[in-house]
Amino acid sequence: MATPRGKLPMAQVEVLPQTQQRTPGRPGDPCIMVIFGAAGDLTRRKLIPALYNLAKAQLLSREFAIIGIAHTAMSTEEFRNKLSEDIRRFAGSEVDPKIWEWFTQRIYYIASEFDDKSLYPKLKTTLDKLDKDHSTHQNFFFYLATAPQFFGQIVEQLAAVGLMDESGNHHWRRVIIEKPFGHDLESARALNKQLLSCASEKQIYRIDHYLGKETVQNILAFRFANGIFEPIWNRRYIDHVQITVAETVGVESRGSYYDTAGALRDMVPNHIMQLISLTSMEPPISFRPDALRDEQAKILHAIQPLSSEDVLSRTVRGQYGSGVEDGHPVPGYRQEEDVPPDSRTETFVAMKLAIDNWRWADVPFYLRTGKRLAAQTTEIVIQFRRAPFVLFRDTPVENLMPNQMVLHIQPQEGISLQFAAKVPGPIMRLGAVDMNFNYADYFGTQPSTGYERLLHDCMIGDATLFQRADMVEAGWCVVSPVLDVWKALPPRNFPNYPSGSWGPKEADELLERDGRHWRNFDR
Ligand code: BG6
Repeated sequence: MATPRGKLPMAQVEVLPQTQQRTPGRPGDPCIMVIFGAAGDLTRRKLIPALYNLAKAQLLSREFAIIGIAHTAMSTEEFRNKLSEDIRRFAGSEVDPKIWEWFTQRIYYIASEFDDKSLYPKLKTTLDKLDKDHSTHQNFFFYLATAPQFFGQIVEQLAAVGLMDESGNHHWRRVIIEKPFGHDLESARALNKQLLSCASEKQIYRIDHYLGKETVQNILAFRFANGIFEPIWNRRYIDHVQITVAETVGVESRGSYYDTAGALRDMVPNHIMQLISLTSMEPPISFRPDALRDEQAKILHAIQPLSSEDVLSRTVRGQYGSGVEDGHPVPGYRQEEDVPPDSRTETFVAMKLAIDNWRWADVPFYLRTGKRLAAQTTEIVIQFRRAPFVLFRDTPVENLMPNQMVLHIQPQEGISLQFAAKVPGPIMRLGAVDMNFNYADYFGTQPSTGYERLLHDCMIGDATLFQRADMVEAGWCVVSPVLDVWKALPPRNFPNYPSGSWGPKEADELLERDGRHWRNFDR
């Protein structure tokens, strides 16, 4: 691979030898994965391709099997055939026929409703048989890719037939739960209580797919594997932080779910809280699951609760109208499939948060997320304070621009630092220049769905990148006051931003009032 100009060649990048890696590159434990909701999109687009990629990377045990469960009537053979068609579309690279053949031979299917109690004794019998056939040591994990109303009852039924029982300590039983984890603080607490009445916290893996993204995990490496950033990572040097999760897509075929959730519930207590906590937490004392999660939880608890007045002055909601996306006319949210024509659900949210601790006092964290925006980008902007003294004031330089460091999460993956440089010429003039690190230039790209690491972690019992009950609840605490005020005061001006824009003008005003601006750019 050619070394990009001005960048370190690959050989100079130190990669830890395998023996020093926290998660040795060993295959997952022998086990059976049971997927509830196996006929859905998540299974074919993410889970199966991720497992296949793990098999290809030899990170899946040879003693492994999958049982898919869904209400669609289908035989095991039909399920295998369907997945064999889908894998070609979603693997992200050429499918190796030998590996796929090995893989499909371990896939089984049960057609059933999740609330049919007779499913669970039947599942237990099937698991016992497959456990013998595939020597999986009675290690089972259950992936709940279902509608959220089934989470609690599935785990209760699994426990009732003894499938959550780890007594004897010779085997493990785990449950992975997809979002949404609750609909608000109260329902999240109730769900935690229900789950913890039939399983222990260490058996519950609450997944947030943002933590499976390499660039999100890289925030930790960037902050804590380098000595030069941490000393300036605080209120003395940082003016504010901006987090943007912008999508160009609309709600697509998910109108009925999305209309009951909205942008705030869909993105903020989960994905955006992950980005905030990793960016702002204190260094953990070790990389053990609870050391890291304790620090994340602490920062979530330190986010200043918003009063009703704060909600009015520090939050903005929006809904997209029709507009132009990628040069094509697109309909407004209210015209989307399964969305009521008078819907008041927000598809955009912007907020200004404060973190009440020594490191971040007076440093605003601005966040925004929305659908049908001008560009697809997830990024964290760290804006540093301006230089304290305007040395160049008797020159044509009027304003010094502040330095910006941007952690690019997706689709661009990397880190850039913007700083001022002298524009060549006889007169003193400054121009903004960028220093860029681009992941792909150094490490190439690998086919990844973002679920590989998380599934593998579950198979080796590493819960570091999964949410603990207290973290989920802390995320809901932040958004609860907003949900309450918004519910009491329904929006009257929806739709209030055209598709293809950067959201409602109130989101710009939120920063302009503080003399700041969002980092916007053209696609
Ligand atoms: C999901 C939300 O959790 O995350 C979606 O429900 C959103 O509405 C998606 O589009 C964004 O994920 P990603 O990985 O595409 O940034």
